[in-house]
Amino acid sequence: MLDSCTIVIFGATGNLAGLKLLPALYYLEAAGHLHPQTRILGCGRRPWSDAQWRDVVQGMLAARIKGGPQAAVLEPLLARLHFAEGDLETPAGYAELARRLRDEAQFPNNRVFYLAIAPHHYAIVAEQLTARGLHAQDHGWSRLVVEKPFGFDQESARILDQHLRRCFTEDQVYRIDHYLGKNTVQNILVFRFANLMLEPLWNRNYIDHVQISHAESQGIGERAGFYDGVGALRDMIQSHLLQLLTLVAMEPPPSLDAEALRDEKVKVLRSIRPIPRSAVHAQALRAQYAPGQDSQGKVPGYLEEPGIAANSTTETYAALKLYIDNWRWRNVPFYLRTGKRLTGTNSMIAIRFKHPPQQLFQPTPITRLKPNWILLNLQPHECMRLELQVKQPGLEMRTRTERLDASSCTLSPEHNEAYEALILDVIAGDHTHFLRADEVNWAWQVVDPVLQLWATERDYIPTYAAGSWGPAEASRLFDREDQDWRNGLDDAD
Ligand code: BG6
Repeated sequence: MLDSCTIVIFGATGNLAGLKLLPALYYLEAAGHLHPQTRILGCGRRPWSDAQWRDVVQGMLAARIKGGPQAAVLEPLLARLHFAEGDLETPAGYAELARRLRDEAQFPNNRVFYLAIAPHHYAIVAEQLTARGLHAQDHGWSRLVVEKPFGFDQESARILDQHLRRCFTEDQVYRIDHYLGKNTVQNILVFRFANLMLEPLWNRNYIDHVQISHAESQGIGERAGFYDGVGALRDMIQSHLLQLLTLVAMEPPPSLDAEALRDEKVKVLRSIRPIPRSAVHAQALRAQYAPGQDSQGKVPGYLEEPGIAANSTTETYAALKLYIDNWRWRNVPFYLRTGKRLTGTNSMIAIRFKHPPQQLFQPTPITRLKPNWILLNLQPHECMRLELQVKQPGLEMRTRTERLDASSCTLSPEHNEAYEALILDVIAGDHTHFLRADEVNWAWQVVDPVLQLWATERDYIPTYAAGSWGPAEASRLFDREDQDWRNGLDDAD
């Protein structure tokens, strides 16, 4: 059983708390992972009593928990909930919060401060907590959890980090990229480092290229306030997809210790060849969804979404070609792509192997040998697939693609285990699945040249029809004609 603690959620009435954190706490309660004395203190501007907040949470959970929450889980969870009124920008709320945390015996002295709020408030909250001594670890530990995006570009991320570090030490800060909490993402490490047979093939001698794709069929919905001006490159590629890239490309760490693992990830990010301004158009591409059609019927374009300015040129689709300049990966392109309102929702890492060196089958009816692929599908299906060429039955020498699926291929679990895993890690004090400050900095360094050029080209953005697989132009990032995007497990090469 982990330590008892007080989980203080800033932004308790917001989206992240309602959609992710409280459901995750529900499932942790259901699995018996929360210490009996652990308390959850929601902070927000509303003048709510504990009882009012409990009612609100009950409503949130009724909408989120599949099949409805069970009374045996809900009751003990609600009993842990308390509410503290306070405005993020005004000191009075923090003074009262500090008083309650110190004086009310029901709140354990180990504290998690979870900032489920807009990033521009991170600095003030950290400063106010520090001014009240809540960063100190005299009578228990104190941990600060912040969510991506960490800054808006490399410079703003550096400034944000300076602010946080004036208040909390690096050891106390937990930077969440929720992809690192996903089982399928953690599995990349196991797949690579628990299977000896892959290692000899995992390099530039055998791998032709790597694709990392995250596609969503949904549009931006009600998130205009966050998304507009941020865009797909910052929202998905700078964090989630670059993290996936590091796990695919890193060297085996000396141990699974958090620092050892993060050192190796940083080495990958540092080895990514900088994109010169003159190469941005050759290596990066952006687009925005226009009105279109999905399986349900007509869907609006980005500019018709609520809260989006009519002349917005924010990208909802971004693709990037990167090279990692080290011995293992030199000249192997890594293609990263993400988009909203695409044909389907799928996240996949696709690794394409080179052709065999000898054209042994040239004199046969086999016109074109297809390459081998390893497909790691992350969501919605968790699946590992190997594509091999085999002879078709019959008298002629022809081949077909045989697909070997791991027998565990299945739909990913209904509930988002990522937040459950990460909350437990924070309570356990384990930084393995959180980002280190230098990691964030290097990830910004990769995308900054692209952001800078795009920022100067704000008059026009290419579009793609909602419900399509994105702009046809995206294929131009590939080096050769026989390479193209794979749109999901069953999309053949
Ligand atoms: C978030 C982004 O970090 O990740 C969203 O802000 C995106 O825009 C989401 O939709 C995707 O996460 P998941 O877990 O649904 O793949």
